Amino acid sequence: MSIAADYADFAARELRGVSRAYERLALAISEDDELLDLLGTLPPAKRQPNLLFGVVRLLGGPVGDPAAFHDFVVTHWLAVAAELRVRATQTNEAGRCAVLLPLLAALPQPLALLEVGASAGLCLYPDRYAYRYGDRRLGAGEPVLECTADGLVPPTRLPEVVWRAGLDLNPLDVTDPADVAWLDALIWPEHAHRRERLRAATAVAAAEPPLLVRGDLVDDLPALAAEAPAAATLVVFHTSVLYQVPRPRRDAFVDLVRGLPGHWISNEAPDVLPYDGLPDPPDAGLHNVLALDGTPLAWSRGHGQSMLWFG
Ligand SMILES: C[S@@+](CC[C@H](N)C(=O)[O-])C[C@H]1O[C@@H](n2cnc3c(N)ncnc32)[C@H](O)[C@@H]1O
Repeated sequence: MSIAADYADFAARELRGVSRAYERLALAISEDDELLDLLGTLPPAKRQPNLLFGVVRLLGGPVGDPAAFHDFVVTHWLAVAAELRVRATQTNEAGRCAVLLPLLAALPQPLALLEVGASAGLCLYPDRYAYRYGDRRLGAGEPVLECTADGLVPPTRLPEVVWRAGLDLNPLDVTDPADVAWLDALIWPEHAHRRERLRAATAVAAAEPPLLVRGDLVDDLPALAAEAPAAATLVVFHTSVLYQVPRPRRDAFVDLVRGLPGHWISNEAPDVLPYDGLPDPPDAGLHNVLALDGTPLAWSRGHGQSMLWFG
């Protein structure tokens, strides 16, 4: 797909009805030859809309007006390109814990959590957050993760987590203001509630920072898994990660994780991690599939805001 088509497709598939500002930007860029030429000088993985928008926000550029955005990127191209080359989209969304929780709470306790593609590790604290599934509330304090859950009885207990660790090619540090600024820049402009959630989840994680290991989800998983306490149920999990992993490496990861003791929870788009016989998704929006040990159980929305159970 051309860069122009990529931006137009992203606007239609991911941004429409979700971020008006970014939808306008993506459509404008899809017809902006000067910006498309500049983006074309970068490796393919560095041309993505989300990455460009996040970098411009990080650098203090305007994202509300396509003409001002164009001028900023052209004027500051060297700085923009330098950031694009060293960064990747590492959006860390604690809200995804709300779709993991029904599975985590149902497994034999206590748990040893190992997240691959953990970013800053904010999804490693499902036991510390509060939840609201419709009118049912679970846990106390902040953040409160709201999730519309259809087709299942929401969990009534939090998991007991005795060990938590993350693996990432580039772990971010919740106690480093520069890393938190990058996480903030990755949140779409209209999503004030997600910005607030990031602030609250970061405070939870910073109070007891997770063990985060720099490494690859295939090469370095066995060694980290071996550190988990044997008396706890090992749960290897990942959400919105495998789209960043080349297909042969995804296949190698699936083979590897199936051979580990304990359980495997995945929450990934079905074009990335396919399953036979999936029911139709609830609507045309993009959805992930929540699965336990390779068995698909539910559709979930990207930021954990809803789930439809079918398993
Ligand atoms: C979009 S973020 C998702 C973060 C987190 N799972 C969440 O849902 O909030 C994807 C993360 O996967 C990491 N990642 C990508 N490929 C990886 C690999 N081969 N091994 C380990 N981490 C990887 C990236 O560095 C990034 O932090």
